[in-house]
Amino acid sequence: MGLVYRTLVRPMLVFQDSEKAHTRSVRMLRLFSNNRLTRVFLSAVYKTRKKLEVPLFGDVYQHPFGLAAGMDKKGEAINGWDAIGLSFAEIGGVTMLEQTGNPKPRMFRSSKHKALVNRMGFNNPGSENMQVRLQNHFERFGKPKIPIWLNLGKSKLTDNQNAHTDYSTTLGRLWDYTDVFVVNVSSPNTPNLRDLQGEEELRKIILECVKINSQKAKEIGSSAKPILVKVAPDMSFEQLERVTTVAMESGCAGIVATNTTISRPNELESDEKLQETGGMSGQPVKDMSTQFIRHIYQYTNGQFPIVGVGGIMNANDAWEKITAGASLLQAYSGFVFEGPSLAKAVVSGLETKLRQHGLDRIEDAIGLWHKENE
Ligand SMILES: Cc1cc2nc3c(=O)[nH]c(=O)nc-3n(C[C@H](O)[C@H](O)[C@H](O)COP(=O)(O)O)c2cc1C
Repeated sequence: MGLVYRTLVRPMLVFQDSEKAHTRSVRMLRLFSNNRLTRVFLSAVYKTRKKLEVPLFGDVYQHPFGLAAGMDKKGEAINGWDAIGLSFAEIGGVTMLEQTGNPKPRMFRSSKHKALVNRMGFNNPGSENMQVRLQNHFERFGKPKIPIWLNLGKSKLTDNQNAHTDYSTTLGRLWDYTDVFVVNVSSPNTPNLRDLQGEEELRKIILECVKINSQKAKEIGSSAKPILVKVAPDMSFEQLERVTTVAMESGCAGIVATNTTISRPNELESDEKLQETGGMSGQPVKDMSTQFIRHIYQYTNGQFPIVGVGGIMNANDAWEKITAGASLLQAYSGFVFEGPSLAKAVVSGLETKLRQHGLDRIEDAIGLWHKENE
């Protein structure tokens, strides 16, 4: 199936507007996965039977590979991500207020470099509409079979001073329907959002989210849910250490590394699409993200869970991130360039890597690079 995608579907993408192609794909996945028969078909083709269990964040993940934020901003295809073999899916970014995002075109694709540039600007239905959507989904299909994470963004209309209530309101409204929250202070397409990675600003946001999280848990007598912070790759290691410390001190359960980059390496200069303004994802961000994972792992002595994201196109890329220190992985661009069979390929490739290294469990591979390079 991966071959079919690469030889037939991917070349056709050249002729399609990136955002339209994306909208169509998610819609198709929603249609196919909401129908029982076609869902069974999807699972039979794409779902991996291999188990590489990762116990983390109060759950046991079937394997480490999930969906990154931004692909399913409205939580439209929740059944689909499970059906094509992902072990968890991050929906959103969702902001407190509904937003249309930036003017189109705002998504650009370079097949040559397996990279995307986007300046979507948090187009999303907003937390109230999202609550209704998720409630309907739960009523129709029950609780999703895989953990659903929620990417929390900030509304453009809310100034940074009041960012903490914007994030925590969305968290509170959607608490019942999601398993893990990701505070996204790293998207490059909302003016000044990345300033919220500053120590004081970030602490204020996390503490407010922690407060609402505890209140919601107390209301129903259960435990609070994990809150993670997602960082940009465009900062110094010193800054990264400060963000990590704030995240740890203020009650976060882990860190997601990384979001898209606003940098453009010289070798991409001739690629017009990649010179568009916005955040770049895919292959060119792979090493940046892996270096961040390595640094966080080293800085925290492997004591703070890391979710690795950025440029994963195959099992080798995934292995690199696991051995750098990531406990779980996510991809967005990989699905655009490699198609829906990516999860199956990555998970079976990881299993092979484990065997080659004489390891039994994926947990034994987390941070392996550090042991080998001590
Ligand atoms: C079109 C698009 C929209 C995105 N939207 C979000 C978002 O809303 N929130 C977020 O945290 N990351 C968002 N991302 C970033 C991805 O989640 C991911 O961190 C980044 O693309 C690097 O991973 P990749 O190379 O596998 O794509 C978006 C990425 C793309 C390409």
